[in-house]
Amino acid sequence: MQALINRKILLGVTGGIAAYKSAELVRLLVKAGAEVRVVMTPSAQEFVQPLTYQALSGHRVYIDLFDAEAESAMDHIELARWCDLLLVAPASADFIGKMCAGYADNLLLTLCLASKRPVAVAPAMNQQMFANPATQDNLNQLAGRGVMVWGPAAGEQACGDVGPGRMLEPGQLLDNVVLQFAPGKLQGVKLLLTAGPTREAIDPVRYISNRSSGKMGYALAQAALQAGAEVTLVSGPVSLNAPTGAELVAVESAQQMYEAVMQHASQADIFIGCAAVSDYRVDQVAANKIKKSTATMSLELTLNVDILAAVSGLDNRPFCVGFAAETQDLEKYALAKLEHKNLDMIAANRVGNNDSGFETDFNQLEVFWRDGHSSIERGSKSGVAKQLIDLIAERYTGAGS
Ligand code: C5P
Repeated sequence: MQALINRKILLGVTGGIAAYKSAELVRLLVKAGAEVRVVMTPSAQEFVQPLTYQALSGHRVYIDLFDAEAESAMDHIELARWCDLLLVAPASADFIGKMCAGYADNLLLTLCLASKRPVAVAPAMNQQMFANPATQDNLNQLAGRGVMVWGPAAGEQACGDVGPGRMLEPGQLLDNVVLQFAPGKLQGVKLLLTAGPTREAIDPVRYISNRSSGKMGYALAQAALQAGAEVTLVSGPVSLNAPTGAELVAVESAQQMYEAVMQHASQADIFIGCAAVSDYRVDQVAANKIKKSTATMSLELTLNVDILAAVSGLDNRPFCVGFAAETQDLEKYALAKLEHKNLDMIAANRVGNNDSGFETDFNQLEVFWRDGHSSIERGSKSGVAKQLIDLIAERYTGAGS
């Protein structure tokens, strides 16, 4: 089966013992019909000779950033544009750290910065190095920016340690590459979602808001894009970059979020309300900064419109998914929300004094629909988002009924 015919794969090899397995990966990719070009970091050459990859790929191997001969054949920007997928396997801890920090002091790092194509990394390192918070933070950050993290596998390591850190086997990496090109579960589906907090002005310098970081909504936008959806992301103020390919509509207040959503809702097939919308807004926003002249002060608040309920109340409504952040009685409150907001699905998470939900990189969800339920175990928000998008796709297309 030549599943990768006409696919162009740029394979980056960094300095790690697993580099020898990437030779087999090149062979498998070529056998599956892909055109493969290999880029090595200088330290990768300490493990495998470039000639090995050249013989297997049928093309010269790229190594130097300042290589006049290579630049005249295909310069590094052209190489970054040429590929359909840039896969770094093995990706060493050092490479992952530099990639995360945006370094460009070798050809492969430069390509990672210059490429707009999907990028995947297959970490390979000692289990202690993998477990180190620095590596974990770097991988989480890369995942948050849309880089796919494939693996690592757990097991016996070249250094004698046992644990997670081994590169995925070439056959598993090939499967991931093939999956990457399979038509997404939401191919062509228009998905609208809200993310982040809203800000309700008190006066020109103060506002009421909440602890939502927007990470879950942005991870959902990324996962939906990867599933082939056309994504419109209506976002409150967050310090995150919108995933490449999403249409970003930046808003501040709940009223602005409502107006932006209503403008897009009639064209949407799926709506996900992931934003932590302020329930109330200040009745009379002061024109000037309020002075502290009295011992106490009160603010009169007015209920904001429920954006999710407004969308689910439309005549030609999209498939509606809500979120419920609860500190107690998760199932009871989630089911009540599913009912009274007239939703197709609700994803509930416990918030408060645990290590999931608001402001963290992790989440864990209980997902309910009218006649079913599924749990998504605690994991990175990008992993949880992918599973939720899979569930939404199943329910939306009816495959899960
Ligand atoms: O009622 P509650 O705020 O707990 O409901 C949470 C769900 O409703 C979330 O999906 C949130 O995005 C959505 N919501 C909304 N507009 C509001 C309040 C909540 O879309 N004004």
